[in-house]
Amino acid sequence: MARRIRFNAFDMNCVAHQSPGLWRHPEDQSHRYKELGYWTELAALLERGRFDGLFIADVLGTYDVYGGDDRAALRNGAQIPVADPLLLVSAMAAVTEHLGFGITTGTGFEHPYPFARRLSTLDHLTGGRIGWNVVTGYLPSAARNFGADDQLDHDDRYDQADEYLEVLYKLWEGSWEDDAVVRDPERNIYVDPAKVHHIGHSGRHYTVPGVHLSEPSPQRTPVIFQAGASPRGVRFAAENAEAIFVAAPSKRVLAQTVSGIRAALEAAGRDRYAARIYALATIVTDATDDAARRKHREYLSYASVEGGLVFMSGWMGIDLSRYDLDDPIGEVESNAIRSAVAAFQEFDDDGREWTVRDIGRWAGIGGIGPVFVGSGATVADRLQEWADDTDVDGFNLAYAVTPGTFEDIVRYVIPVLTERGVYPTDYVPGTLRNALFGRGDRLPPEHRGARYRPGGPGSTVLPDEVSRNVAGELIT
Ligand SMILES: Cc1cc2nc3c(=O)[nH]c(=O)nc-3n(C[C@H](O)[C@H](O)[C@H](O)COP(=O)(O)O)c2cc1C
Repeated sequence: MARRIRFNAFDMNCVAHQSPGLWRHPEDQSHRYKELGYWTELAALLERGRFDGLFIADVLGTYDVYGGDDRAALRNGAQIPVADPLLLVSAMAAVTEHLGFGITTGTGFEHPYPFARRLSTLDHLTGGRIGWNVVTGYLPSAARNFGADDQLDHDDRYDQADEYLEVLYKLWEGSWEDDAVVRDPERNIYVDPAKVHHIGHSGRHYTVPGVHLSEPSPQRTPVIFQAGASPRGVRFAAENAEAIFVAAPSKRVLAQTVSGIRAALEAAGRDRYAARIYALATIVTDATDDAARRKHREYLSYASVEGGLVFMSGWMGIDLSRYDLDDPIGEVESNAIRSAVAAFQEFDDDGREWTVRDIGRWAGIGGIGPVFVGSGATVADRLQEWADDTDVDGFNLAYAVTPGTFEDIVRYVIPVLTERGVYPTDYVPGTLRNALFGRGDRLPPEHRGARYRPGGPGSTVLPDEVSRNVAGELIT
């Protein structure tokens, strides 16, 4: 049977998210990111295309690695100015019924206690359509503005994220029992205190003794997204992630990354397919191959190589302005996105070494991922070929111009995939988690988060709190 293909849209609350320079294109609307209408129209369009979700990236710093300051980033509008992703969700949820929302926030910059409540709030307001993209950060400028000299070392950031998630799982999964809210006017009880548990967390980074502030939301824990692909990142993903975003410039690197993730999921006691893997890609399509190629050439004429190098320097943690444009990056240590560096130290699909100029050009449209150009049928062929050869579940689609890129995909590509029987014809009703896996709204029992349920092996809920029912009687 032909492999099914899923789509996510990739965006950010800024201009020209992965296409530096294309904010100058007359059709690009990304400068409207400050208007609610821009987001509600996009959400409605994606739901018409039966996208799984809209994934909104975020950073809390500037890309000041390139050239050693933030002037090039500012000049290019390279993810600066950038606004908050969470505040967009309620409005988009109000105009859609099924679309999921994957919101990015970092584990280094916000205490887990208020964060747990904000996500529970969004899970309630969206009817269980919220996902959280857990990132550990990669920009030293972000850490500096939180008062540190630099960000933590790469692997220490993941250790901190482990504890961050432990606190959240305890709050989301362990604090409130499903029937804690009784709303009983006869007995004058809104919440049964015996069913709300203090989590008693005391760890290296966080002390959270009390109860979660929100009552259980449809999914409790939002769908956990993750996007790091270094060995430590994959270990973290294997324990926590339900959707994984990967970015690779070649099919070979992508296939290696995906098989590493699938093996790590199994090593963590989960099914190889327990996480949906979406590969970053950009589609430039039109009615014919020729028209699509013309459109691509036109987009390229707006792309900024400098903007591409600003991004790549930030992602790699290497100031590419110090290199000769015709040099390869060679053997370097990175404290940023290690998988990004590794991907460009490999050869491309044509067996060539990447030079700095190639990297800057490549990142001009679509970031680290490939650009598929052609008619709906041609692009569908490429997507199917990449999915078959790499074992990904789908694609995380960036835009060249917005909403034009997404409109073109809905118009030219989705009908072809649907006709070939490889694209969903309808949404699975219910929460985002159920739509992705069809196994209900909550985390499955084999997931790390389920261990923190009251009475579970990871629970720190006091024993007498779990063992008494409403009337104060012991239960077994
Ligand atoms: C497709 C993709 C999207 C990402 N989006 C973000 C983001 O929005 N914000 C962020 O701080 N990091 C983002 N990252 C970085 C990762 O989440 C992670 O922190 C980084 O990849 C380091 O992981 P690694 O060294 O394990 O690869 C993204 C990475 C990829 C591949």
